[in-house]
Amino acid sequence: MLRFGSVRMAFLAVTLPLVLLVVGGFFVLLEFETYTDAVARLEAKLDRMLASNSVMLARAVWERNDVLIATHAAPALIDPDLIGIFIYDRDGQALAEFGSKSTAEGMSITRDTPISYAAGADLEYAGQLVLVMSDAGIRASAKSRILVLIGFAVLLTAAIVFAAQTAFNLVIGRALKDLQRAIDSTRLGAPREEVQWSGTDEVARVIEAFNRMQRRHTAYEGALDDARIDLEHRVEERTSELKRARDEARAANRAKSAFLANMSHELRTPLNAIIGFAEVLKNQKFGPLGDERYSSYAEIVRTSGTHLLDLINDLLDLSRAEAGGLIPADSTISLDAQISRAIDMSRGEIDASRLNLKIEVDDEVPPVRADARLILQLLSNLITNAVKFTRSDGTITIGATIDERRSVSLYVADTGIGIPKDQLEKVLEPFTQLDTRLHREHHGAGLGLPLCRAIAQAHGGQLTVESEFGEGTRVTVTLPPWRALPPNALAPERP
Ligand SMILES: Nc1ncnc2c1ncn2[C@@H]1O[C@H](COP(=O)(O)OP(=O)(O)O)[C@@H](O)[C@H]1O
Ligand SMILES: [Mg+2]
Repeated sequence: MLRFGSVRMAFLAVTLPLVLLVVGGFFVLLEFETYTDAVARLEAKLDRMLASNSVMLARAVWERNDVLIATHAAPALIDPDLIGIFIYDRDGQALAEFGSKSTAEGMSITRDTPISYAAGADLEYAGQLVLVMSDAGIRASAKSRILVLIGFAVLLTAAIVFAAQTAFNLVIGRALKDLQRAIDSTRLGAPREEVQWSGTDEVARVIEAFNRMQRRHTAYEGALDDARIDLEHRVEERTSELKRARDEARAANRAKSAFLANMSHELRTPLNAIIGFAEVLKNQKFGPLGDERYSSYAEIVRTSGTHLLDLINDLLDLSRAEAGGLIPADSTISLDAQISRAIDMSRGEIDASRLNLKIEVDDEVPPVRADARLILQLLSNLITNAVKFTRSDGTITIGATIDERRSVSLYVADTGIGIPKDQLEKVLEPFTQLDTRLHREHHGAGLGLPLCRAIAQAHGGQLTVESEFGEGTRVTVTLPPWRALPPNALAPERP
């Protein structure tokens, strides 16, 4: 496929040879026609001259009179086309020769005819007349005619091409230029330019289609712009709504934390007094209470107060953890000791439920860097759960291990009622208790496990719950390796 730099060039490349072919072909045909015509006319003239000269020369040839022959023959040579006259007597002897038998250039036509003389009654053969003509004359005029024709053909071709180009410019060139200008002027947001054009031809139809497209685009862009502005407005609105909501939520959270901190302080002070004086009463420090029931009531007041204090502490720590403010103290503690302390705190319930207790602390477990109060709170929560959800004669196992990465784990396992697999995630959400028949028998606030996980995470560790429904539960807390201290870290304090 040929390629051209412009439509005009392609147009020219197609029209020019075609025009040349048609015009040239026409002139060649015309010239051929004219030439053959001229040759025919020349031959007719030769025949006429032959006829008239053979009659005129008859007597002179019969008598072989040279002077007479020359007088009659010579005038014929005035004709420019005739180049030779040859006359022979009845024996074939040449009587006269004028001019030449052939021409240097072009073609010569030679004709001869017998000369008859009326000697007496009969026509006698007197001799032969030969005439030679040249086509040089026709050739010369053909040559000049061809020159004129070539000049004419060139002019005609130029005129046709010029006309075609002008028509092309008027019809297509301007349309293309206008279309291009309209397309180039297109800018986002600006109304699209249309091309002014009148007419009903194909170009006009293309331009009309283009103008329709421009109008549609202007409409689309307008709609798009509106949509964008609308969207921006909405995003702005939503953002400020969200900001407001976030600020409100932050303020509410701060207020909640402040409230909890204040309240727990306010609650703890009287609670400590209640617990302390209940103990004083129960121990009958300042004399007997009289009735036995008073001291048992005093004991109930004390245990209830302690329970309430634990709950308040859990609530405070959990709300601190949620606000990111649960920062563990970095003291050196022995997990062994913390486990013993936690067991002591639940000893009463363990014994009451007649539960078997197993303690499995590996010898390699070193002292750890952790917050003593929080670890105790964690262990006591896990043990309370284990005791609460395990029936009499069940077993509770409390242990500590260290793995090859020096990551220390604490675990509390029981042979209790367990947790259904699909609810394992749920038990870690604050204020959640499971709704199975067995779980419903027990009361609680749903704070323990979430708080334990928060304590584990505050130490950089994690908490996992594994359970088999009806078989038992195992909760494991893993501390990061850097919390494990060298084995002798606590040595000086040991007895
Ligand atoms: N050892 C366990 N065995 C069976 N279920 C348990 C155990 N520990 C916790 N759960 C379930 O997870 C729930 C949440 O426990 P927790 O956060 O300690 O709250 P609470 O003890 O106040 O109910 C419990 O109510 C119970 O349904
Ligand atoms: Mg609990």
